[in-house]
Parts: sequence; structure tokens; C-alpha cells
Amino acid sequence: MDRLVIEGGTRLVGTVGISGAKNAVLPLMAAALLADGSTTLTNVPRLKDIETFTDLFSHMGCGVFADPEAGTLRINASRLTRMEAPYDLVKTMRASILVLGPLVARFKTARVSLPGGCAIGARPVNLHLMGLEKMGADVAIEHGYITVKTSGLKGARIYLDTSTVTGTENLMLAAVYADGETVIENAALEPEVVELAQALKKMGAAIEGAGTDTIRISGVKELRPLEYSVMPDRIEAGTFMVASAMTRGNVLIKNCPLANLESLSTKLVDAGAGITAEEGGVRVTGNWPIKSVDMKTCPYPGFPTDMQAQMMAMMAMASGLSVITETIFENRFMHVAELRRMGADITVDGRNAIIKGLGRLSGAPLMATDLRASAGLVLAGVVADGTTEISRIYHLDRGYEGIEVKLNRLGANIKRIKE
Ligand code: EPZ
Repeated sequence: MDRLVIEGGTRLVGTVGISGAKNAVLPLMAAALLADGSTTLTNVPRLKDIETFTDLFSHMGCGVFADPEAGTLRINASRLTRMEAPYDLVKTMRASILVLGPLVARFKTARVSLPGGCAIGARPVNLHLMGLEKMGADVAIEHGYITVKTSGLKGARIYLDTSTVTGTENLMLAAVYADGETVIENAALEPEVVELAQALKKMGAAIEGAGTDTIRISGVKELRPLEYSVMPDRIEAGTFMVASAMTRGNVLIKNCPLANLESLSTKLVDAGAGITAEEGGVRVTGNWPIKSVDMKTCPYPGFPTDMQAQMMAMMAMASGLSVITETIFENRFMHVAELRRMGADITVDGRNAIIKGLGRLSGAPLMATDLRASAGLVLAGVVADGTTEISRIYHLDRGYEGIEVKLNRLGANIKRIKE
């Protein structure tokens, strides 16, 4: 397993480009399963999760051609031979559940391994399955697999008890061929949901209301394959905004989706950062002392849970008391123990983390535990005094395309030790 060795104490200065959004590519790949023909996606980042999903598509019999250098991915879903997602693939990438909706919609059957929990929480999929049952599918769970059969899905009114991005996406994908109208209420509002709806409409689907909490899908007979360029990754962009702000940096972030980062930007400005839209990007400057701010993770457009660990690293560098409340996932504070090893003063009380910012961190050997926690630890290492070593950085590679290369171009000093 690779590890990163970071010599800290650096300010980040320069320009960085943002890659395509992981959490947009995955549902767009699932949408390709709906059409008989070849879908081409561009601006696709080189990420482990996308490789894993690509392996699953090959397993199902799709023709898949990936050109990571060019950032293009072509998926031919004309001749699927297996309508199933096996455990050994799903266990490494739980978003594989996204093949369920399109397989049932187009082939009326699917067998998908029930995703286990992940480090940050139990992550049930009961709402995905409830929606399919409302649409007339027979759903069974046996031997760790979800088996779904239908003679043809019918439009239904589905209320999602909890805001779930992949739940909303899965049911939107399932509804495009259903007989009649499907209404998804309490739908997720995330930009990646809007992106998927735009792509499905480009394929010929009839969808209204994406980006609001009520999405209406009227079934159609056929969809054409897709040509689509993936939106920039708002969480990668947010990660670099925090990186500049916490290192007293001055970074121009190209193709930064600032409109999708309102809540994060507000918190960064409250903490003393400067954020200005310029020709060709967004400039983020950091000022010390960093001011302590409170935040509470919420479904979009609230403060993103995927930015919680990064902001906690920044609050550990602030000069005051801040409270971070995590409302989405029940176990998303695993980075706290690692930040404490760097001298951070953080107390966890249930869903609340109380951070007493000491204005400094010291480098230490750390272990990555999940994707976004690892990003927070990298940022902490860049700003800390001395050397930080982070093991198990395969977590990082799932969602960031060469983060250490991009940070080094901004003045960081990070070595990847391959093991
Ligand atoms: C998406 O997950 C993202 N993943 C997550 O990003 C992100 O953290 C999350 O949205 C929140 O913004 C993708 O888009 C692939 P969930 P999502 O498992 O919404 C409850 C990353 O770092 N729930 O649905 O699919 C669940 O318990 C990842 O890139 C049910 O109760 O997450 C949780 O409280 C991490 N029943 C909440 O909903 C269900 O059937 C969201 O969890 C489904 C979900």
C-alpha cells in the first residue's frame, strides 16, 4: 500500500485545475446502460472508483474503452450478458448499487450484491428498494444479494424519508422507461443529480424538477446513447479552496464550480479567507490568524459532509473554539484521532466535534481511514511543522486524481512512496 511523506510548513501559491466530478461520472456511467449503443463521456478523472465501476461494466458484457490520458470513457451497452453486480466488485465500491435502476428499467431483472456499510456509516439502501417496489418490482434479499424482477415498471409516487443522492439517482434511472409518471418526493438537490437529469434528457428522457425536492419522470419507449462532458468536481475544488485558505496561500482555481460551493465559501470568508471570481477561475487567499467558525453538515445546498474533514483540519489551525456537527453519516469523525496525533485539541460528543484551535499542528505518522478524511489529513500535513507520513492512501486515490502532484505544483513538498 502506498504512503505519502509530507514536509510541512508550506504556503500554497499558483494555479490548479479541477478534474471531472467522481460523483457525476458514476451515475452517468449507469445511464449508459439504458441505451442500446455506445455512450462517450469526456473530462473523466483517473480515479480508482471509476476503474472499479469500469471493471463491473466489462463483467456485465459491456464494451468498455477507457483512455485515462485523454479523460474519455466509451461504454457500449448493446449486448449485456450478465445483469448482475458481484460481491467482490460491489464491496470495494458501494455506488455500484447505481446499476440496479437501469438494469431493471431496461432488462426487467437484476441481481446486485447488497452493499455493506462503509467506514463512515451503515449506508443502507432500503429507500432504493422501497422505490422499486412502489414501481411494481418484486424485490428479494437472499445470500447477500438483492434480486429484482418485474414484468415492467409502472410510474409511482415515491417519498424518500431521507435525502439520498444515489437513492434519488437510482430511482430516476429506473423510472425513465416506466409506464406512466413517477414522482420522487424529498429528492436530493445535489448538482450531480441535476447533471444526471440533464444527461438523461439529452438521451430523450422526460424529466422535470431536478434540483428541486420533487422530480417528475414520464416513461418513454427508448433512449439514445449519450455524448457528455462531465462537470468539474465541487469537492475537489472545495478541498483546494481550504488548502489555500489554511496555508495563507494565494491560489487560482481554474474551472471552479463556485455556484455549487456557496455554503463552503461563506464559511471560508467567515474564517478570514478571500474569495474572488477572476477571468479563468476563482482566487482564494488565506489570512492568519484563522478565525474559528461553527458549521453543521446538511444535504445540498447546506454545508457538504464531504468537506467536513478538510474544514476540521483548518479549524485545528484557527485561534478559538469551533463546533462541527455531522448530521449525514453516523461515523464520520475518524480523522479526529489522527488530527489529535498532530497536536489538535478536539473533543467529540456524539454528532458534535468541539475544536479548540491552537494555531499550529505538528507532523506525525498517520493512517487514512476514508476518502475525505484522508484529504483532511493531507492538508493538515502540508501546513504542519515537520514531517507527516500517511499510510493507506488508497482511500485518497478513490476520489482525487493525483492530489499530491497538484499540491506540489502549488509549492507543497509531498513524496509518494510506493510499497
Ligand atoms: C452521496 O452519497 C455521495 N456519493 C457521498 O460521497 C456524499 O457524502 C453523500 O452523497 C452526501 O452528500 C455518491 O454520490 C456516489 P447515502 P449518498 O448512502 O447520498 C441514508 C464521497 O466521499 N439512507 O444515500 O448516496 C443514509 O443512512 C461519498 O464521494 C437511508 O437511510 O449517501 C445516510 O444518512 C461519501 N436509506 C443518508 O441517507 C437509503 O436507502 C445518505 O447516505 C439510502 C440512504
